[in-house]
Amino acid sequence: MRRRALLALLPILLLSACGGVQSVLGPAGRDAEVIATLFWWMLGGAVVLWLLMNGLLIFVSRIDRRPYSPRAAEALIIGGGIVFPTLVLGILLAFALSEMPRQREPGSGLTVRVTGESWWWRVEYLPDGASDPVVAANEIRLPVGQRSEITLNAHRVIHSFWIPALGGKTDMIPGRETRMSLEPTRAGEFRGQCTEFCGESHALMAFGAVVMEPEDFAEWLAKEAEPATSPATEEARRGAAVFRAEGCGACHAVRGTAASGRVGPDLTHVGGRVSLAAGILPMTEDALVRWIRDPEAVKPGAMMPGYDHLPDADLRALAIYLEGLT
Ligand code: CUA
Repeated sequence: MRRRALLALLPILLLSACGGVQSVLGPAGRDAEVIATLFWWMLGGAVVLWLLMNGLLIFVSRIDRRPYSPRAAEALIIGGGIVFPTLVLGILLAFALSEMPRQREPGSGLTVRVTGESWWWRVEYLPDGASDPVVAANEIRLPVGQRSEITLNAHRVIHSFWIPALGGKTDMIPGRETRMSLEPTRAGEFRGQCTEFCGESHALMAFGAVVMEPEDFAEWLAKEAEPATSPATEEARRGAAVFRAEGCGACHAVRGTAASGRVGPDLTHVGGRVSLAAGILPMTEDALVRWIRDPEAVKPGAMMPGYDHLPDADLRALAIYLEGLT
């Protein structure tokens, strides 16, 4: 009996793990709240159905010990098989349909254009009325309490954009722009993930999602629009020289310098991001060294070549330079 009770507790234990930065059950956005509510309603409906069906099963398994009544059997089939499921599913459908229009509402003010690359995210911010985007990568920042428009594109193959704590997911399709809007309800750091199989490193295509107070966001965006700061230390200057000598600027842009490549992520403010390699490594000097030395070991199939031919001191200087680009 005790073992059965413990088994019954298992689902609750599993659900208790559904928290944290990448969970639909810890909503931090208006759309995610709807999804979480819908989930609990669906779960409630499923539990009621499960109990009823098992009750019926136990009831009919004992029926041969009672006098057979065709009318009771008919009532069971019509009531349990048609009326009850129609009622439960009808209520769930009505609830879901009433919530759906809110999720289609367009955003106002800020537009964030996100493009799925292999296997990272190109991110462009277009504040209201702006024609030139502020280019960033691998991190989405949004102001709290405002509905922002998210336009989605894909380069080469399909991806899917999902920040579980903020809202539902939307596919990203090459040659066709899709859209969604998100309205965060509390500030914090969350995590997004590509949710459409897109190749070798699909599972390693994540990103940080940072929700900020509107004034902090405005301040951050203004800073993000600025060109890169000059390297402040001797070591960082040496790193910048390695960056130039190795031709990193052919693929990466660092605004304010000669580096203007668009093949890889924009690195103008890379040191200010919460993570490296699209949500896979922490933004630290060691992680930068590890990534630059051998990206293939971190993200199989990544287009970035390895720089393991560089002496450790050069790699370290490069990492210090990039970490300083905040
Ligand atoms: Cu991109 Cu999966």
